[in-house]
Amino acid sequence: MKLIGPFKQLLTLAHLPLKGALKDEQLEIITDAGIVTDNDLIIAVGAYHNLKEQYHDATLEEIEGDQVLLPGFVDSHTHICFGGNRAKDFAMRLNGKTYLEIAESGGGIWSTVTQTRSKSADELKDITLSNAEQLIRKGTTTAEVKSGYALSVEGELKMLEGINLANQECEIDLIPTFLGAHMKAKDFTGSNHEYLRELIEKVFPILKEKQLTKRVDIFVEQSAFSVEEGDYYLTEAKKQGFELTIHADQFTTGGSQLAIKHKALSADHLEFSDEKEVRELAFSDVVATVLPGASIGLGMQFAPARKLLDRGCCVSIASDWNPGSAPMGDLLTQASILAAFQKLSTAEVLAGITFRAAKALNLEDRGILSIGKKADFVAFPTTDFQNIIYHQGQLQPSMVWKNGNRIH
Ligand code: NIG
Ligand code: FE
Repeated sequence: MKLIGPFKQLLTLAHLPLKGALKDEQLEIITDAGIVTDNDLIIAVGAYHNLKEQYHDATLEEIEGDQVLLPGFVDSHTHICFGGNRAKDFAMRLNGKTYLEIAESGGGIWSTVTQTRSKSADELKDITLSNAEQLIRKGTTTAEVKSGYALSVEGELKMLEGINLANQECEIDLIPTFLGAHMKAKDFTGSNHEYLRELIEKVFPILKEKQLTKRVDIFVEQSAFSVEEGDYYLTEAKKQGFELTIHADQFTTGGSQLAIKHKALSADHLEFSDEKEVRELAFSDVVATVLPGASIGLGMQFAPARKLLDRGCCVSIASDWNPGSAPMGDLLTQASILAAFQKLSTAEVLAGITFRAAKALNLEDRGILSIGKKADFVAFPTTDFQNIIYHQGQLQPSMVWKNGNRIH
């Protein structure tokens, strides 16, 4: 047993609704707080001096200076397992080429595929670990990681092997997702439908047999897969018991409706979701995951986060860290910028990167500082929580704990 504190403020993020708009007044803030952990779990949260009396046997981990404690961040959408770099694509966009034009001319995702295919599973593990290390320093204690940069049966399995190996060594949880359906491989000679069929027939069974992932993702977009193709793929994936998530409505609509139809855990991107899509998402249990890093990287509009919240969606905010559209990889900075443009409350931002993001990953054991939840938390060197979003990512975590242990 361990008593950690005192913290100037501790935000539990407890007792908040999963869906819809939030006001800062709804946040539960404990001042001069402590937190008691037993192994990887939280067993008490409250006033430090009370906990000190009550848990006098606990080992003390005394905290110096003014610190604000939050649940560890959950980044529910990343592509941090990749080879090489796409600075050339970025420069081309600065010179006026669009993301889709670059993709069509052989750059884009395909250029990362050629750079990723040449890596071994071990090298991919090392790249993933080194990127995860950066996430940890910024306060993330759980991150989803997608495959999707090899686009062949062997290559995709190698990526998932690399991600799983990284998870075994990593101090935080890395949740793998199969994104073989990122686009059809350019060296695959058949149709999109045939490519998807190959993934269904050759990859799905191995994902299960080797327990490489429970999650399947598809990019539904003009440059990738149509709504009909997505429908076919998701029907099969659902039948086989996979959890679903979709790259949806990034440039054109259609993907979010598929997410609703197939009861996906989340629909991610949503930059082009309009009133109709937003309303339908709000009536569903699909988490609406917005990815401000992709909007910043591509210089395009943000997803309508304000509207999604006002209509009643559960909104997760994720980094989408990838070498093409979202190379920054800094969730707090991106979420703070999104908040400024979309007028999100601090409560909505914090919910979006903690328990609402955990919902997108079907994880109910984290994202809230309360009894029985995972002892994953992050401290910021400040007296007041509002300074965290105010500094737009420049106020960096001073300490991070995972499963009750200090990892940063
Ligand atoms: O989420 N939109 C599709 N996939 C990634 C980007 C992939 C890439 O450009 O490498 C995304 O933005
Ligand atoms: Fe993505």
